[in-house]
Amino acid sequence: MIVEKFVAPASKIASRRLIVGIYEDQTVAPRALRGAAIEPMITRLLAAKELSGGVGEVTTLLGVEGISADGLVLVGLGARPKFDNGAAFAAGVAATKRIAGKQRDVVALAVPEGPDEERAELTSDALRALVEGVIVGTRGPGLCKKEPSRHAFGRLEVVIDPASGMSLDSAHAAVEQARIVGEAVNLARELTNLPPREKTPRLLAERARAAASEVGLSVEVWDQARIEAERFGGLLGVAAGSDEPPAFVVIERKCGAPDCPTLALVGKGVTFDSGGLSLKPSSSMEDMKSDMTGAAVVLATMVAAARLSLHVNVVGYLAITENMTGGSAVKLGDVLTMRDGTTVEILNTDAEGRLILADALAYAAERKPARIIDLATLTGACMVALGSKVAGLFSNDEHFATDVASAARRAGERVWRMPLDADYKELLKSNVADLKNVGGKYAGAVTAAKFLEVFVGETPWAHLDIAGPSWSDGDSAAQDPGGTGCFVRTLVALLMEKAGREGRGY
Ligand code: BES
Ligand code: MN
Ligand code: ZN
Repeated sequence: MIVEKFVAPASKIASRRLIVGIYEDQTVAPRALRGAAIEPMITRLLAAKELSGGVGEVTTLLGVEGISADGLVLVGLGARPKFDNGAAFAAGVAATKRIAGKQRDVVALAVPEGPDEERAELTSDALRALVEGVIVGTRGPGLCKKEPSRHAFGRLEVVIDPASGMSLDSAHAAVEQARIVGEAVNLARELTNLPPREKTPRLLAERARAAASEVGLSVEVWDQARIEAERFGGLLGVAAGSDEPPAFVVIERKCGAPDCPTLALVGKGVTFDSGGLSLKPSSSMEDMKSDMTGAAVVLATMVAAARLSLHVNVVGYLAITENMTGGSAVKLGDVLTMRDGTTVEILNTDAEGRLILADALAYAAERKPARIIDLATLTGACMVALGSKVAGLFSNDEHFATDVASAARRAGERVWRMPLDADYKELLKSNVADLKNVGGKYAGAVTAAKFLEVFVGETPWAHLDIAGPSWSDGDSAAQDPGGTGCFVRTLVALLMEKAGREGRGY
């Protein structure tokens, strides 16, 4: 999609649709409509609360006099004091979902006024989030439909009001970044939405290779023989139940500066999780093609980092396999030896994510990165604890936990810190091996994280359990059903922050 920037009064832009944001507590028409014939009517509707401005609420008016666009799309930005980049992103998605059902050659987006009545202009971060939302909204989950249900706009024109006081340079930069980041989120969503037979471990690894090399990242795809040579007992054990061999992908971006510290990103890539012999009930398997979201998000973040030319050393590891029930599947009571020599008694083959991550984390840690962050659709227990919108954040390092939480806040994505106290580890004691792969009945998200912690050693590490936010069951105004591509925007925010430190990299 082509994205252009204009400095002009929004009402004068000829387009199919003009998107204008309104705040919930707004009592006068937004600046973009000042002086247009419709202004008094909008003001009346706002005063009468007929236009509410709740986040993601959309009202379309067609053929409005004095507006050069064919239609005006008013989208709610929520209450001014609560406005953040999450609200901006949601508004972008909601407005676009309403428009992109048909082919539109030109759509204009009026940059909203800032939430702070004192300071007239929107921050460039909020503009970025809004445009990211627009890009994400142009793509739906209907990958396999005969007729596409969503259409990217021929051109998106971002219209900056000359009176807004917004710096044009920063607005231009924000819009360019938004296009790249929005497309990265869509890449993660698309991979998640692919049917499992179209993303077997080898196919997914090849897609990762193609996407990474296209943007000049160095990428290595390990086959079964290499994975055996590297003694990835967890990944091999999980893959044993499948006719498809596993894959391990290493993607690297070097910033070039000497002694530049590295951030390692690790993603769980289970392309279908049947549970293995500890078989899931059918209804719990319906969305288990999404169990590779962590890997998709890591890949998408790497692609975004390359396209944004971020000055960071970052390396992505994707651990990819199916979890199936074939005749060679791992059995309960089997013992697997992980990459670092730790032995694990398997008492539930559905706790497979931690086994493949154990190898990936141990390998990542051996290469001495400054920090490691992993993303995994790891436990249903995390959804029991936090619901479907909030990820569990676990970390062995206070500074890093704070960094990740504040990056999430800047992106408008939601995390909640969870405990890793030492005594939870007792729940993973095995009679026969160093560890067992399941804890007890309670604190399932914590025992899973405690398991992972063993394999990072002393490396500062954060783990995001994204079982909830990775997938959306319902179709809402501001979110499509299916894969969400969650936390690509947070990881990019984290990398941008580090890249901002003049050549110091991560
Ligand atoms: N992939 C699942 C976790 C999951 C559940 C993700 C629901 C998204 C939605 C994971 O591999 C799993 O099956 N975890 C088990 C762990 C248990 C056996 C200790 C779970 O959560 O039930
Ligand atoms: Mn499982
Ligand atoms: Zn799983």
